[in-house]
Amino acid sequence: MMFTRTAVLGAGTIGASWAALFAASGREVTVYDPAPDAEARVARMVEAAAGPLADLGWADAGDMSRLRFTADPADAVVGAGFIQESVPERLDIKHALYARIEPALEPGAIIGSSTSGLMLGQMQDGFANPGRLVLAHPFNPPHLIPLVELMANARTDADVLDTAQKFYESLGKVCIRLNKEVPGHVANRLQAALWREAIHLASEGVASVKDIDLAIAHGPGLRWAIMGPSLLFHLAGGDAGMRGLCAHLGPAFETWWADLGTAHMTPDVVEMLVKGVEDEAAGQSVADLASQRDKLLIGYLKARAERG
Ligand SMILES: NC(=O)c1ccc[n+]([C@@H]2O[C@H](COP(=O)([O-])OP(=O)(O)OC[C@H]3O[C@@H](n4cnc5c(N)ncnc54)[C@H](O)[C@@H]3O)[C@@H](O)[C@H]2O)c1
Repeated sequence: MMFTRTAVLGAGTIGASWAALFAASGREVTVYDPAPDAEARVARMVEAAAGPLADLGWADAGDMSRLRFTADPADAVVGAGFIQESVPERLDIKHALYARIEPALEPGAIIGSSTSGLMLGQMQDGFANPGRLVLAHPFNPPHLIPLVELMANARTDADVLDTAQKFYESLGKVCIRLNKEVPGHVANRLQAALWREAIHLASEGVASVKDIDLAIAHGPGLRWAIMGPSLLFHLAGGDAGMRGLCAHLGPAFETWWADLGTAHMTPDVVEMLVKGVEDEAAGQSVADLASQRDKLLIGYLKARAERG
């Protein structure tokens, strides 16, 4: 097994989920988080994730015995081959942490940062030698959603990105690589583009928030979970594939693109969205909805693993 000893720095929403997955995969995990309730939170996450992770085939799901907690980040990284950093999204906090761990790092250790929005170049300035740091952005919750967005640059040591990818793949993750730094990486920008138009359509009264969600969840969203939009349009082109699709529907897409709207988080838009999702939830709590989502998600991930 690659990297049998790992460290998780920051154990909030994202770090606790990573810790649960690392431990479920049979790895030792040392957790550092200064919050007094961090250990209890991680324990709750490990318990909540145990069923889903066992369903997905992780034999050690729910086993707390591989988790160790420490109040010292330098102590957390001693002996760790892979370190997942998920501390708050603030450069000063990340830099202060990097300065504390750098003297204690093992020579071959790799640090993956979960950052959603900070640039790799900015984060690297927190290390005297940034060669072992990669951007490794997961999707919430990382113990279930396969995607990890990876990025290195010229200051990264040669082998590090490939090794990090192999490590995440050994955890069942699907990695994509960013060749350039852009705010929001790839997946969040795609979500933002779609949500912008969803908000525009709802604001214009074209359809309700609920119906726009239904349109995605029961239409293209189902297909997008299987293949991305470009490959799906290749199929939509029949025997002529993507070239045929572009010839046939390209002009229509041009007119739709020209008509797409913008969105702004004005108080009215926020009220419309809040009311829209309240109607849609019809009294179900966020916890109920999250549990429904996770059950279906696990069913899908299992089907995908079984069918290849
Ligand atoms: N929430 C998401 O959906 C999401 C998704 C992908 C990536 N991320 C990224 O993951 C990282 C963590 O986000 P989160 O949502 O888990 O935040 P969070 O606020 O839930 O958790 C942050 C944790 O870090 C701890 N912390 C605070 N100061 C610290 C320090 N100096 N050293 C170590 N730990 C410290 C806090 O006690 C807390 O437990 C961010 O970089 C964020 O951009 C978040």
